[in-house]
Amino acid sequence: MPTPSVKPRILVTRAIFPDIVEQLSQHFEVESNPDDADWSADELARRLQDKTGVMTFGVERITAPLLAQCPKLKICANMTVGYNNFDLDAMTAAGVLGTNAPDVLTETTADFGFALLMATARRVSEGEHFLRAGLWTRWSYDMFSGAEVHGSTLGIIGMGRIGQGIARRGALGFGMQVVYHNRSRLDAATEAECRATYVGKEELLRTADHVVLVVPYSAASHHTIGAAELALMKPSATLVNIARGGIVDDAALAAALRDKRIAAAGLDVFEGEPSVHPDLLTVPNVVLTPHIASATVGTRRAMAQMAVDNLVGYLVHGKAKTPLNAAAV
Ligand code: DGY
Repeated sequence: MPTPSVKPRILVTRAIFPDIVEQLSQHFEVESNPDDADWSADELARRLQDKTGVMTFGVERITAPLLAQCPKLKICANMTVGYNNFDLDAMTAAGVLGTNAPDVLTETTADFGFALLMATARRVSEGEHFLRAGLWTRWSYDMFSGAEVHGSTLGIIGMGRIGQGIARRGALGFGMQVVYHNRSRLDAATEAECRATYVGKEELLRTADHVVLVVPYSAASHHTIGAAELALMKPSATLVNIARGGIVDDAALAAALRDKRIAAAGLDVFEGEPSVHPDLLTVPNVVLTPHIASATVGTRRAMAQMAVDNLVGYLVHGKAKTPLNAAAV
């Protein structure tokens, strides 16, 4: 008698579109989390012990101690482009593949970076709070005067795909001079397409009217912007962080905003999020959003689909679409 085929077991750690879980169920025995319960690291390890794959959301810490408890695990598929939740060396050593979701969120995230830059420079949130509080009784010539965006100098730190998208928007849409800093310089054709000039980090901070951070998080990029860097920026400058919490020293930024050492900031990501440094909540000249740069329905669907394609590709067909490491099967 033929033995019945057993589907691999996988875990989906957070709530996601029901049809995404449905697709996974065609290939796997799926344990999902439709109520979006908050699982501790121990709970995650317990649920992963009998799983071959897991769909993760960029926040679950996949570490050596966790992997030691999950001998069957073969793949962790992030639906995010960022993957600083993965210890890739430990995963490679344990024979576990990591995948992420690049490209599908590039333009949406660049749109949001620009939206946050505009809202920050033009003091959109401050104006709205003022109006909602019933404080708008008269118009005056200097009410919420902000910083010019068109024709100004845009400095981008981290010139990957999203940084390039922001550069194109700035240069082509708003006539901005674009300077950038990156671990490695772009090739001449890409620089020309983005109309961006490579400069040192210090020069960028000294000259840019608006600084946008799009650098991936790592130990090396921790506190790329701290008190010393903020001190180099123009007092009229704005800072936008759509990269990751920890790229900016949030306490130092709150102090710089309070003391008007820079004009304003726009933050979509925070150290220790979803907690936000309490001092950032008390300064008016900062626009705060809850890590939503890639949040459009279409993009979030495409990101989830990429995680599905990676899980099915690897566990059913032996090849993932966007592998991050070379784990032995
Ligand atoms: C990503 O994909 O890394 C975004 O920050 C969403 O988490």
